Amino acid sequence: MSVSSPRQHTSYGHRESRPPLAPGARAVIGHLEQLLRDPLKLLRSCSNAAPVVRLKVAHVSVYLVCDADLAREMLINKNGVFEKGGPIYEAGRSIVPNSLVVCPADVHRGQRTMMQPAFSPRSIGAAESVMSEEGEQASNSWRDGQVLDVLTESGRITHRVVARTLMPSVTEAIDVDHLLEVVKDLTRLVALQVVVPKSVRRVIPTLDSRFAAAVDGTRQAAQEIIAASRASETRDQGLLGVLMQQDESGGARLTDEELCDQIITLFTAGTETTASSLAWAMHILSIRPDLERRLHAELDRMPPGPISFKSDLGNLPFTCNFISETLRCYPSNWLLSRSVVESAKLGPYVFPAESSLMFSPYQIHRNPKYYEHPHQFDPDRWDGRPPTVSRRAYIPFGMGARGCIGDRFAVSEIANLLATITRRWSLRPVPNAQIRSKRPYFFAAPYGLQLQVVRRRPLS
Ligand code: HEM
Repeated sequence: MSVSSPRQHTSYGHRESRPPLAPGARAVIGHLEQLLRDPLKLLRSCSNAAPVVRLKVAHVSVYLVCDADLAREMLINKNGVFEKGGPIYEAGRSIVPNSLVVCPADVHRGQRTMMQPAFSPRSIGAAESVMSEEGEQASNSWRDGQVLDVLTESGRITHRVVARTLMPSVTEAIDVDHLLEVVKDLTRLVALQVVVPKSVRRVIPTLDSRFAAAVDGTRQAAQEIIAASRASETRDQGLLGVLMQQDESGGARLTDEELCDQIITLFTAGTETTASSLAWAMHILSIRPDLERRLHAELDRMPPGPISFKSDLGNLPFTCNFISETLRCYPSNWLLSRSVVESAKLGPYVFPAESSLMFSPYQIHRNPKYYEHPHQFDPDRWDGRPPTVSRRAYIPFGMGARGCIGDRFAVSEIANLLATITRRWSLRPVPNAQIRSKRPYFFAAPYGLQLQVVRRRPLS
């Protein structure tokens, strides 16, 4: 936790009005060991401690907002006091300072308006055939009985979908495998930047130098995309084309540095997240044949071709519930943060300016206060039966003005990829293969997941 103001330790009027320390803090290091070894367990242990708890690493404290209503209040941010900031976004700013995902509130509206058309229902409709084609192409290349490295496969597909829909002129020029590697490396190292305070990193300088090298590698890959787009004979029809347009005075709308930031954002926020959700969904299907049968039964009734978010998803209730439950149990953005701009009240606490507040979709989704048997994967909890589901405690895409711009794109993509994959293949677990999910990096993905694909029907 690299960001915190010393003021936050002194400005509480009454000591008891300060959020309590989260369970398990150790002398000197505080929660560092838990954050490095099993942060999800630490988050679960905080669920019922208090509406907000304090996490401490060495001398640095941040606050974890555990209560769903308080988290919503912070995200809706009516008074503009909770700005994008805190440990997660400080690390993000050192990679993509000018991007939609980290930019400050005063420039956010303009950036969001510029990018929004790429995520309109019409654009998503157009992207659906690409999603379906990419799913088909990948799953047609698999052999019966093949064991897949699932995150690599799903990452390859989602990188191609983002490239083809948002920057079509450069798709063939992009080395997707290289991009996957640099992005994966970066998200792994950024997690350490978040958890390990600057003072501790100073003692282990290789951590910062490896991070700097990963940032350089990613920026270079993004520069190559810009160069490929400029070299292309046709103007890009996707989002990249819009971002590269000239302004009214004929000048560049965005500098190359700014373009680079937006490209990296789309290739991280828009690919690793969806790839991780798809991989978790595939894992569940492999260990729950009852759910696999139900998904097959529903999707087999659909005609071949893309599934439309607008007109088909309403007729696929089980598929929708299955996706909702995947995003509840395995939200890829498991820990996010905000910074307090000026002294602000949240629930019973007043936070001084520059306090860092964290929230965790994972922790809120797994809290027994909001979901019955929260650790059980149960798509039927979404079928309308109260009171097993608490929609106010469902935030896989965040909410408010900084909520995910790609939420519909993502759900449509997961539905299309699941449909194309499950039309051809049944998924089977690989004996002794282990998922490493205890220590999530920046995104909580099923690292190491392997699955065997078994053919269901001849290829069409
Ligand atoms: C399952 C897939 C996805 C998940 C779980 C997800 C989750 C999230 C969350 C939780 C936020 C809000 C972060 C916060 O409030 O601090 C967010 C923001 C964002 N997401 Fe997604 N996302 C997904 C897919 C996508 C896709 C497909 C794209 C684009 C192609 C995308 C682009 C973005 C961007 C640009 C933001 C920043 C929005 C802003 O600040 O205005 N995401 N996402």
